[in-house]
Amino acid sequence: MMTIIDHLKKDHRKIEMLYKQMDDLRPEDHATRHKLFLNLHSLIEAQARSEEENFYDRFITRKDMRRQLLEYHEVHQIIGALLKEMSLLSPRDEKWHAKFNVLKDILHRHIQEEEEVLFPKVAAHVEKDILDSLSDFYIERRNSELNKLILTLANSVLRDSQSSNMASY
Ligand SMILES: [Fe+2]
Repeated sequence: MMTIIDHLKKDHRKIEMLYKQMDDLRPEDHATRHKLFLNLHSLIEAQARSEEENFYDRFITRKDMRRQLLEYHEVHQIIGALLKEMSLLSPRDEKWHAKFNVLKDILHRHIQEEEEVLFPKVAAHVEKDILDSLSDFYIERRNSELNKLILTLANSVLRDSQSSNMASY
């Protein structure tokens, strides 16, 4: 059986794959870039929310992890803010690209820290049975968030395209 850590890592790989795919686009591929960004935005948000609820919150009272988890929560907030700001810009805007580059740096470092510092610590101190049992909770919350977010983000794009010239994507 896969532990919650295995699932978190799997989602991290999906996130990396998405932003690398965006990197490989030709500069003029605005529509594809925008579509991939919607996927990236919702996946990161859903992943982070479920990760906080089913992973961070379970271990936050532990002295040996608390400081790290509090810091990582702040990193999630920063990532969320960047995503939100990007969603209000067009990928044609050079500011969008500046934010995207910063986002990639932060994501890369954050994922690395979780996988190299936090996850090994949790794996060493928490029983495998418990980590197994958190898998289902993690997946369920991640999926329900994902469904909600995809709808909300798709709707906001629709609203924007009706009210402005966003159709130029
Ligand atoms: Fe995270």
